[in-house]
Amino acid sequence: MADVRLEGLSKAYGTIQVLRNIDLAIDHGEFVVFVGPSGSGKSTLLRMIGGLERISGGRLLIDNEVVNDVDAADRNLGMVFQSYALYPHMTVRENLAFPLRMAKLSKAEIDTRVAQTASLLQMDHLLDRKPRHLSGGQRQRVAIGRAIVREPKVFLFDEPLSNLDTELRVQMRVQISKLHKQLGNTMIYVTHDQIEAMTMADKIVVLKDGVIEQVGSPHDLYHNPASRFVAGFIGSPKMNFLGGKVEAAHESGMDVRLDAGAVVCVPVEPDKSLVGKPITLGIRPDDFSPSSAEKDIAIDLDLDLDLDFVEHFGSVTYVYGNAGKEAVVAKASKPDPLKGSGKVRLAASPADCHLFMTDGKALRRLHAPANWN
Ligand SMILES: Nc1ncnc2c1ncn2[C@@H]1O[C@H](COP(=O)(O)OP(=O)(O)OP(=O)(O)O)[C@@H](O)[C@H]1O
Ligand SMILES: [Mg+2]
Repeated sequence: MADVRLEGLSKAYGTIQVLRNIDLAIDHGEFVVFVGPSGSGKSTLLRMIGGLERISGGRLLIDNEVVNDVDAADRNLGMVFQSYALYPHMTVRENLAFPLRMAKLSKAEIDTRVAQTASLLQMDHLLDRKPRHLSGGQRQRVAIGRAIVREPKVFLFDEPLSNLDTELRVQMRVQISKLHKQLGNTMIYVTHDQIEAMTMADKIVVLKDGVIEQVGSPHDLYHNPASRFVAGFIGSPKMNFLGGKVEAAHESGMDVRLDAGAVVCVPVEPDKSLVGKPITLGIRPDDFSPSSAEKDIAIDLDLDLDLDFVEHFGSVTYVYGNAGKEAVVAKASKPDPLKGSGKVRLAASPADCHLFMTDGKALRRLHAPANWN
């Protein structure tokens, strides 16, 4: 196990700055996921930690030792990439043993470690096969095994599941999470799949254009996104964003008049300087419910939606439509009365609303749900 510290790390290729001023603390045994859109710098950052990419500025520390200029091979890291890069002419056993032979371990030690790794990843029965006789998921497990077998201090994964089909991805996701529990190693995992990030991470790092947009637990990022970017990136279907104007700021929050019609008092830290200014209200599809006429509950945000279409997933149904000029997606818990067209009245609690200023920053919510842990 090891802790990893990034202090003001930066990376430039010639005059192109691709990472700027990255500060991050990764603790012993933590599972940290880097997410962000394509080109945001996730792989470059991981490769800098791995020693495969030169660091242009700042310091990288592993277990309190500055390793900027330490060779990749001497950093004691296990790396797994999107392409498995197994040796095709070697069996699984030989593939696993190879890094240990390079490290000049004894035959007995090699045999023991290979057997342990194979058993951990449930691939004892595959040891005598060549990679071409394995499925994609099995190959990926061998690639992970080859990283584990060296007992590295830190694991680095770069989109290891992106070549697998959906079902295998889910299986491997669970396997990697279990593996992390069993081994207790520090893991740094790159993905652009926010579901992988949400389900696997202790801590998520959201990157955008080479800078850190937000760091936090999955719960934090979901319930307290610091910006509109993070709010839109985490969660599926995406958070709805509705235009509006601030009418008043008072101690219980901010009154917002939406372009779509409704007025709502959102419980956020009030800021009088925003009165009269445009603002964006964010609300997750899952926080809407169809408001039924029979129910006599005081509902604070009401929207009338012109339905476009309805998507049934079995356990959940989403309705798509327009409120005024704005596109809205909402979860419908009781889809029966909803047809693919017509009007539906949606309701949401103001406590579930987010507000974003014109620069994209979020206003602090007063009643965000407590952490899951
Ligand atoms: N060798 C290089 N020379 C110049 N620019 C590069 C080089 N490698 C990467 N970049 C640039 O650095 C930026 C970050 O790239 P990086 O591969 O880290 O992105 P990423 O977040 O991993 O994206 P993806 O999700 O597509 O893998 C991109 O704009 C990319 O074009
Ligand atoms: Mg990448």
